[in-house]
Amino acid sequence: MEMLMRIKGDGLAYKYVDSDIKIKFPDFIFKTGDVVILNQKSGKGKSTLINLIMNLTTPTTGNIFIDYENKTIKPNIKSLVSFVPQESILLNDTILNNIIFTSNITEDNIDIDRLKIVFNLAGLSHLNIGFDEIFTRYCGERGGALSGGQVQRIHIARILYENRPILIMDEPTSAIDNEGEIELLLKINDELKSKITIIASHNKNLTNIKNTEYTF
Ligand SMILES: Nc1ncnc2c1ncn2[C@@H]1O[C@H](COP(=O)(O)OP(=O)(O)OP(=O)(O)O)[C@@H](O)[C@H]1O
Ligand SMILES: [Mg+2]
Repeated sequence: MEMLMRIKGDGLAYKYVDSDIKIKFPDFIFKTGDVVILNQKSGKGKSTLINLIMNLTTPTTGNIFIDYENKTIKPNIKSLVSFVPQESILLNDTILNNIIFTSNITEDNIDIDRLKIVFNLAGLSHLNIGFDEIFTRYCGERGGALSGGQVQRIHIARILYENRPILIMDEPTSAIDNEGEIELLLKINDELKSKITIIASHNKNLTNIKNTEYTF
């Protein structure tokens, strides 16, 4: 059975050292199955909240709790979170290695069936290459041999392959055309049911997939 996970924000606020403003985040509980879209205006604190949840920064006041059911755990949050940063770059390696390098596996113990599933879900066929070519095709320096949309699809394949209970993405589809984006969101929707998904985005297509409101 799927374990229900929650992320709780309790009295959270953050003040940057060289800023006079303390950014306050209303209390929240996000649970497995929630899709939260942070579409607040630029400078409101979306990336700050993401950094707090990812335990990259410590709250000035308040706490973040992660629980399974009613039991608070002190997990290594990084092993629970898949993250797609806004400025996503790739390793100058094969598409395959760019998909699996965060999953702690080697080329010898890849789950090929799962790899095929994420290849299709992320729409990597839009690279106009066959599945077999992901083993040999190189992405170029910082992913420069591919288009921005192709790079973003590889990131999405990576986080789907990681299959962790929390997904955090910053403008993950900004380089993908409207039609491709809607198709992608429809395809990955089922995968999101077993995760907590938090996406920072102003994009209308993405705001349509939210099922939980959170504003600050
Ligand atoms: N390192 C920093 N030092 C001082 N102030 C900062 C720092 N980083 C961010 N801020 C300020 O904190 C506020 C929130 O920034 P944050 O990056 O979280 O916003 P955001 O909602 O992610 O914006 P965007 O949509 O532009 O990415 C902003 O007013 C910003 O100027
Ligand atoms: Mg930001």
